[in-house]
Amino acid sequence: MYDFKIEAADKATLYADLASALEGLVAGESDGIANMANTTALIMETLPDLNWVGFYRNIGGELVLGPFQGRAACIRIPFGQGVCGVAAATRQVQRVEDVHAFPTHIACDSASNSEIVVPIMRDGELIAVLDLDSPSLARFDEEDEAGCVRLGEILSAAI
Ligand code: SME
Repeated sequence: MYDFKIEAADKATLYADLASALEGLVAGESDGIANMANTTALIMETLPDLNWVGFYRNIGGELVLGPFQGRAACIRIPFGQGVCGVAAATRQVQRVEDVHAFPTHIACDSASNSEIVVPIMRDGELIAVLDLDSPSLARFDEEDEAGCVRLGEILSAAI
């Protein structure tokens, strides 16, 4: 049984504790699907104010839905389309305060109002993106971005 009780007073500590928990969770396990699945559970349990968290994997130059928590989502996203597709095409974090103002945003859950998508790279190649959605506008700030980038670095060798 895993029982991570992460209750940090400030966001930097919260993400540091989350990163440590994630490192422990994926340590010694080589199955990427298992590690992605557990990662989504850990993030959903730890970070407040999320309605969806999950992975899209780079399968032959197209994003394909991976393990997630939340409502059923669109399965395939072309590079360049939506917040995830732009993150995949540019290899840059996309932090969107209001998804309804993002030109090609793909609405999978009408509850989502803000979103952050982190590219996950390995050996210079994009392997997946990690997508977090919130029902609150501007839910993700620079500290969230730094924290999620750190999670992506840990996941690079684990998925
Ligand atoms: N909103 C995303 C699509 C994926 S869902 O949020 C789960 C996008 O625009 O890429």
